[in-house]
Amino acid sequence: MGFEIDQASLFTTFCILFFSFTILFCFFSFLIFITRLRPWCNCDVCRSYLSLSWAKEFGNLCDWYTHLLKKSPTGTIHVHVLGNIITANPENVEYMLKTRFDNYPKGKPFSVILGDLLGRGIFNVDGESWKFQRKMASLELGSVSIRSYAFEIVTTEIQSRLIPLLSSFAGKENGVLDLQDVFRRFSFDNICKFSFGLDPGCLQLSLPISSFALAFDLASKLSAERAMAASPIVWKFKRLFNIGSERKLKEAIKMVDIFATEMINQRRKTGFADQKDLLSRFMASTNDDKYLRDIVISFLLAGRDTVASALTSFFYLLSQHPDVEAAIRDELERVIGRTQEVASFEQMRQMHYLNGAIYESMRLFPPIQFDSKFCQEDDILPDGTFVRKGTRVTYHPYAMGRMERVWGPDCLQFKPERWLQNGVFRPESPYKYPVFQAGLRICLGKEMALVEMRSVVLALVQRFDIRVASPNQAPQFAPGLTASVRGGLPVLVQDRWS
Ligand code: HEM
Repeated sequence: MGFEIDQASLFTTFCILFFSFTILFCFFSFLIFITRLRPWCNCDVCRSYLSLSWAKEFGNLCDWYTHLLKKSPTGTIHVHVLGNIITANPENVEYMLKTRFDNYPKGKPFSVILGDLLGRGIFNVDGESWKFQRKMASLELGSVSIRSYAFEIVTTEIQSRLIPLLSSFAGKENGVLDLQDVFRRFSFDNICKFSFGLDPGCLQLSLPISSFALAFDLASKLSAERAMAASPIVWKFKRLFNIGSERKLKEAIKMVDIFATEMINQRRKTGFADQKDLLSRFMASTNDDKYLRDIVISFLLAGRDTVASALTSFFYLLSQHPDVEAAIRDELERVIGRTQEVASFEQMRQMHYLNGAIYESMRLFPPIQFDSKFCQEDDILPDGTFVRKGTRVTYHPYAMGRMERVWGPDCLQFKPERWLQNGVFRPESPYKYPVFQAGLRICLGKEMALVEMRSVVLALVQRFDIRVASPNQAPQFAPGLTASVRGGLPVLVQDRWS
């Protein structure tokens, strides 16, 4: 009996000690976290951030940061209360993305946010796992056969769906079309065909949207919203108790998983050796189905909204610059003549002005407006900024496109000629233009994205006059992983051929 009492009191003491230790541990972790963030910081930037006074003058955070970065002599700022250094200095960008790449991984805070959706997919991992997937994916994406496969998919989607859809709206009285929505559907069809060999048919407005498209949309939207929570504790708490948006996210991810598993099983049954999509290609390198699911879902996320965002901004700018539109039409006619309808892959590569216009529009409106890494060890950036271990360091393509010291006094103008030397397209340093990121982790889908954009721009500019319905209203960007225009981009369409 006495022995039982002793045992019970020993257990109680152990529980109390364990509980007290946990509380103390949490308290000190929280204290360290707070010390690093410096929530008491009273500098102008932090005060303005905390009191939201910046919002009186600027429509969104990106524009405010751009203003601060322009004023900063180094092109770098530190928002102490967020533990976030933000830079628009190309030398710093090169340093973090190439020179000290290993010291600036994506880091845990990012991978936790997207971890439930992306798992261990390339977009969401660092270190050896990233290296392995990068090698495998680079081999596949560098092949000529995948590029012509991508071109084939995009051309089919344009000819069989995009053009008929715009034609059906053309000239209609009150026929306003949301171009952003059209491009989102268009790029989802393309990236699904490219990644899985599956056609969700999102651009066929007569069909109901596939349950996969809906689930994927919801899962990426809710995952992105985690990044906007005041503190990660908020969404982690909701996830723990499976409530609110986290319950919806869990359900959406379950749907995505069911679909991906079905696709993989089907491929195993029907054989993948003679299929051209990414999933089939990766199946030749690994048998791990979870890994296959993760890597393909990463491609879906990376390649979907980015292209739609780039196309939306492009047509917004084109609608404001009829001279650029006319120059693209001239170049098209010069390269393909009057009789041919569709430009070939090779012909598109010769269209230097078109390429300049596409690069220029993403300079002003990069689909990924900023991108962050987390510093591993204390460091000093080339401009002299000290970076403490664990600090979030963000490079800011949106601000960089608006910096006089990077692009010259005409940096705010849309000038495709900026990219031409004697009429030939001349790329700039990727560290000055990190729209596709740069260095070792540069976007793997860059070529595919450019093929998609060139094809769409040529097909639509050749056939239609597209004008923004409210031209005097500048687009307002909504926060998210990828830039999107609040309220979409309503346009009026005229068919030039009818
Ligand atoms: C205009 C369109 C696009 C832009 C502006 C763009 C931009 C970017 C950027 C900035 C990153 C780095 C993100 C980060 O590490 O946090 C990235 C990575 C990536 N992109 Fe793109 N992207 C575009 C289209 C595409 C497409 C169409 C695909 C797929 C076919 C794709 C596949 C990827 C992949 C797989 C990565 C991860 C690479 C790695 O971590 O090693 N992207 N992209």
